Amino acid sequence: MNAITTTAPGALGADGGGSPGILVADGLVKQFGGLRAVDGVTLAVQPGEIVGLIGPNGAGKTTVFQMLSGFLSPNAGTVRFRGARIDGRNPAQVCRMGLARTFQIVEVFPSLTVLEVLTMAASVRHTMKAARAVAHEVCTKIGLATKGSLRCSQLTLPDQKALEIGKALATGPQLVLLDEVMAGLRPAETQRVVALIRALRDEGVTFLLVEHIMDVIMNVSDRIVVIAAGKVIAEGLPKAVANDPHVIDVYLGREVDLA
Ligand SMILES: Nc1ncnc2c1ncn2[C@@H]1O[C@H](COP(=O)(O)OP(=O)(O)OP(=O)(O)O)[C@@H](O)[C@H]1O
Ligand SMILES: [Mg+2]
Repeated sequence: MNAITTTAPGALGADGGGSPGILVADGLVKQFGGLRAVDGVTLAVQPGEIVGLIGPNGAGKTTVFQMLSGFLSPNAGTVRFRGARIDGRNPAQVCRMGLARTFQIVEVFPSLTVLEVLTMAASVRHTMKAARAVAHEVCTKIGLATKGSLRCSQLTLPDQKALEIGKALATGPQLVLLDEVMAGLRPAETQRVVALIRALRDEGVTFLLVEHIMDVIMNVSDRIVVIAAGKVIAEGLPKAVANDPHVIDVYLGREVDLA
């Protein structure tokens, strides 16, 4: 653990102030055969925060997300969402409780329209009639108001990324996990996604994001957690993390300009 780390293993408050957090993962371990992909990860997210989870390729970020969202069961450790244990529950149960995720690989249903996909997502919680209304609302919110009847295969990459966030949003989440939702976008296009995340946070949605685009993740996040080889190696304000010699050594390679 690094000097700027504020969450000790087993501690429940990310701010050190005792607030347990909307999401608390404690001592998560995931073993794939001989590989310990996640090796005792403890992290907490406070309501209304935007937390960035960063680290080298293969560090275990997506595996952590899989365990937080019910797609994988941890070999050890616990996950609490709004105070309730969710490790061991399935993804649909976790999603209905208000924790939604996007996937690292954009998953589109090429022949369905934008509104059909959003309606499908909203139907996790709603009757079909209500789901259609939610789908329209979300479609506008993500900037696709005029594209609701386009097939997903007709969308540009930035619109596909917005739709990924929309699918999570349509399930009515309090917390959204975004896994590299901005990968492949040009700088101007990432700004659109950043603006959307900020607007949603202002409406009360909490975010945990994985992203490799350093200036974006450092600018959008209130707090950063760094993992390497399955362990949390640093945690703190973006500026402190970006200038941390150990983080620079194992991941960043050079200091990040946060101008
Ligand atoms: N289902 C699986 N079976 C076996 N090994 C796996 C599985 N999923 C992930 N791994 C391995 O676990 C390690 C962590 O992978 P993970 O996908 O969590 O990394 P990551 O931090 O998301 O990386 P990236 O930044 O490249 O997306 C890697 O060595 C990966 O090859
Ligand atoms: Mg990943």
